Amino acid sequence: MPQELRAVDWTENGLALIDQTALPHRTEILQVRDVDALVDAIKRLVVRGAPAIGAAGAYGVALALQQGEREGWDREQLLAAVSRIREARPTAVNLAVCVDRVRQRLDEGLGAVLEEAAAVQREDVEANRAMGAYGADWLLKRTADRAGDRPLRILTHCNTGALATAGWGTALGVIRELHQRGRIEAVYADETRPLLQGARLTAWELAQEGIPHYVQADGAAAGTILRGEVDAAIVGADRIAANGDTANKVGTVGVALACADAGIPFVVAAPTTTVDLSTARGADIHIELRGEDEILQWAGVRTAPAASRGHNPAFDVTPGRLVTALVTERGVLQVAAGELPGDHLA
Ligand code: MRU
Repeated sequence: MPQELRAVDWTENGLALIDQTALPHRTEILQVRDVDALVDAIKRLVVRGAPAIGAAGAYGVALALQQGEREGWDREQLLAAVSRIREARPTAVNLAVCVDRVRQRLDEGLGAVLEEAAAVQREDVEANRAMGAYGADWLLKRTADRAGDRPLRILTHCNTGALATAGWGTALGVIRELHQRGRIEAVYADETRPLLQGARLTAWELAQEGIPHYVQADGAAAGTILRGEVDAAIVGADRIAANGDTANKVGTVGVALACADAGIPFVVAAPTTTVDLSTARGADIHIELRGEDEILQWAGVRTAPAASRGHNPAFDVTPGRLVTALVTERGVLQVAAGELPGDHLA
């Protein structure tokens, strides 16, 4: 992704979002000027990925403030608008955390709100850079017995790159760091049904970086892992419970189970803003159920019989016992071995 292109950017015309529904064929910017348009963009996955919707939500508070001034809202209307942004998607905790952080500065005016939102954005990029280094060091050490000095084959699921964050990426940031060190042989990018974040977005980012990769069907992942074709899997997260259970894009738990069976590391890379200590365990995480048409149709054409119903959970929960390592901007925790996410927040 060219340096100047950011998934989420504040401009004098409001919030500029790369329309991720149009990628990889068209790179279009959606200018968002009001709260309805932002909520719609978050729900339609124009902007997506836990840290990116956190950053969009942070700037959304500024949009709400501006719109409220234009339209003469009272405080109750303003707070209701901010809450609508906060609730636009339920699973990624980053959205609520970032909106709440910026909302605290509402009374100080637009300058302060924008300053806080910019800090959210800047800190996310810094966290991703730190994760890249920690994750790459850990993976190289952990796979040394198996891979020796040869570059690694890494499997990933969904999109966790610059598009999914304020910049650089989480799991894909670790992969980019490994690539810069000359230690990537190939990335296996799961296509990520039904909205193809892997085939459309991860592959687009990998291609832009010149990182060798294969796109594979989600259903191929377990076989690829069990045949010994990859050294490790690394994914992002939408919410990490206090016990290490991790919600991420649907299909992730199957990858983790296959890694456990094959005895290779299953690694989660996520900033500490994704850790939610108020959620005790994965079963308490609200999993977004999306519309049936995303499953029952293909490119707008019905593929399932008219009588069929669709079941479309957007995320699943990987038990902490299957998470070999959690990489945050503070270092690496061996969750399956008993280290807890809270150990990084204390
Ligand atoms: O529905 P999406 O595309 O927003 O889901 C995104 C994921 O599940 C990502 O893996 C997660 O948010 C981490 S992004 C760094």
